[in-house]
Amino acid sequence: MIRRQFLARSLGTAIASLFARSAFAQHAGHSMQGMEGMDDMPGMAGMHHAMPSPKTPPQVSLAADDALPAGAPLPELRTLVNSSGEAGTFRATLVAAPAKHTLLAGQPTTFWQYNGPDADSAQGPVTGPLIDVREGDTVEIRFVNRLPQPSTIHWHGLPVPPDQDGNPSLMIAPGATHVYRFTLPPGSAGTYWYHPHPHMMSAEQVFRGLAGPIIVRAADDPLAGFPERHLFFSDLKLAADGSIPANDMMDWMNGREGQFVLVNGAHRPRIAVKEDERWRLWNACSARYLRFSLGAGQRFVQVGTDGGLLEKPREGLTELLLAPGERAEVIVRAGSAPSQATLTADVYDRRKMAMSAGSLPPDPARVLADVAFQPQPAGEASEASGGMRAIPATLRTIVPLSAPVARKSVVFSEAMDMAAMHRSGASVHGMPAGMRFMINGTSFDPKRVTLTSRRDAVEEWAIENRTDMDHPFHLHGTQFQVVGRARGGAVTPEPLLAWRDTVNVQPGETVRIATVQKMAGDRMFHCHILEHEDLGMMGTLKVI
Ligand code: C2O
Ligand code: CU
Ligand code: CU
Repeated sequence: MIRRQFLARSLGTAIASLFARSAFAQHAGHSMQGMEGMDDMPGMAGMHHAMPSPKTPPQVSLAADDALPAGAPLPELRTLVNSSGEAGTFRATLVAAPAKHTLLAGQPTTFWQYNGPDADSAQGPVTGPLIDVREGDTVEIRFVNRLPQPSTIHWHGLPVPPDQDGNPSLMIAPGATHVYRFTLPPGSAGTYWYHPHPHMMSAEQVFRGLAGPIIVRAADDPLAGFPERHLFFSDLKLAADGSIPANDMMDWMNGREGQFVLVNGAHRPRIAVKEDERWRLWNACSARYLRFSLGAGQRFVQVGTDGGLLEKPREGLTELLLAPGERAEVIVRAGSAPSQATLTADVYDRRKMAMSAGSLPPDPARVLADVAFQPQPAGEASEASGGMRAIPATLRTIVPLSAPVARKSVVFSEAMDMAAMHRSGASVHGMPAGMRFMINGTSFDPKRVTLTSRRDAVEEWAIENRTDMDHPFHLHGTQFQVVGRARGGAVTPEPLLAWRDTVNVQPGETVRIATVQKMAGDRMFHCHILEHEDLGMMGTLKVI
């Protein structure tokens, strides 16, 4: 395995040992309080002043893990209302603004939230309203930025023109309004989402609450008969006083994971399944990997990925891993007798770093929702098949992309520059200096083109992870096909044909994808751990 690189080796060796697994073992998990607790370690005095962000209070005491009530029914997503009367046009206003919700009794939390134009923002879940549209629709969204920061809206996964895609170079100032406009092509039906994409502020804007779901529907959806359920997962780190604290050092390094995972804005809600359902799952967490399970005996069927239906259903699954940014569609059976299950994020070891040497132990499994299966007596909704709706053996045709005419290499790497970490006042936007996450050897520079592609040319990209932790790779503006994975000499061809825009890459692994861009302009590609993206693990693809 490739070791982490230290740019300032003399300092690196001394400090690396302080940050090693043993020193951090007692703090392993979620409640690292910035660099507090490091004061009493020899040699840390010099580092301390450079690291906490100007916005980080000296001491953040987090709300207890059980501070949020559980067990309320799963909230339905709010829906963004289409104000257009014309067929084939979806027109709406989306306002990003601070909004108060009371999660902890007597201590309101100020989120940043997307709302429709006249929504009462404290009503309903913090999750942005669902944009529910159809293939062929022209979508026109007026974005009103009432945040104290510049922002953009990025349409994650959708094939929108580059200048409509909320690139970091296309910032909308506080107080400003901007109209995004795009048309959804045939074949684009799938499960997408929208979120801010300003450089160095995406993580904060998302962890304060800005993210929402998009569904694009096809006229000939073979699963249209299944009732749908929407599960939009987000992460919340909450202080005991109800505030949402800034990122600390560990958040920046490993990506932020709070004490709570919310489903449609609710903590551990209750779901009653009365008949077979189609679930759409969004992992909109900043950094948390969700390895879904309904328990060992509960099988489900995966029918879709980011970019819509699979070619063939994947039957009999007992778990499904979604990296940050990924989505999936599954069919969950109600069964034939009442039963209970928990929707759980099982243990997944993404090899979170212990500052510089070794890694933290994986998080324990966590319950995301309680599920009650309450199948209705046969004869009502589902007389045809004794309670079972059939899933077609072929969901759609996915044509493999043709042989590549060009190849590209994307390499993830990281480096801890201890000298820079020591320089006081070196942090920008509360980001720690000296912690470098790179693509092809450099951190993001808005003025630099990382790769250039030709329009309509099928390319094969090899995405290689030379770091010690998992990173989810995401490419804008298109859906791609995973071709295969290689790790430690073993090559695994991808067993299923699917359209994706986000794929996890494990340490030491190379994932090969086939991809094509259809419009000229600049596209971003990056790690979807938002802190890594903000720290520069992002590049620009220029399509000519
Ligand atoms: Cu969901 Cu460039 O991001
Ligand atoms: Cu995206
Ligand atoms: Cu990353």
